Amino acid sequence: MKKILILNGPNLNLLGNRENELYGNESLNEIELQCNNKCKDTKLNCDFIQSNNEGELISLIQSVEEKYDGLIINPAAFTHTSIAMLDSLRSVSKPKIEIHLSNIYNREEYRKKSITAEAVNGLICGFGAISYILAIEAIGKLIYK
Ligand code: DQA
Repeated sequence: MKKILILNGPNLNLLGNRENELYGNESLNEIELQCNNKCKDTKLNCDFIQSNNEGELISLIQSVEEKYDGLIINPAAFTHTSIAMLDSLRSVSKPKIEIHLSNIYNREEYRKKSITAEAVNGLICGFGAISYILAIEAIGKLIYK
């Protein structure tokens, strides 16, 4: 069975207790459970990881080439700042999808630019936890095409 990494950036461990009007009421653990179910249906194994640390996220992105068949990433605030994360994403040849819970294009000006999106196949945003589910559906199609 093919395996994907679902990677979550800084502050996403606070979901459910953080700006719920923007990010929803579900905790990251609840989203992980939904992702596990969707991955089963899509015939994918998945590791679901969150980190607040840019270096750790970069090391995990680097591991995708060897250990995984695809990557779904919510880089959180690093989306808008991290050229280092962009560079590591560029080094991955496997299917990659960027996701956001909120619609980054109808928020503050500084969120409207995604630096990291330059290195991914596509971006899904604005659907809350459903962004994760849509991304699993899409990456399944890219992996098993
Ligand atoms: C986010 C959007 C980012 O701008 C923000 O910094 C986050 C969450 C989202 O999922 O909507 O932490 O990535």
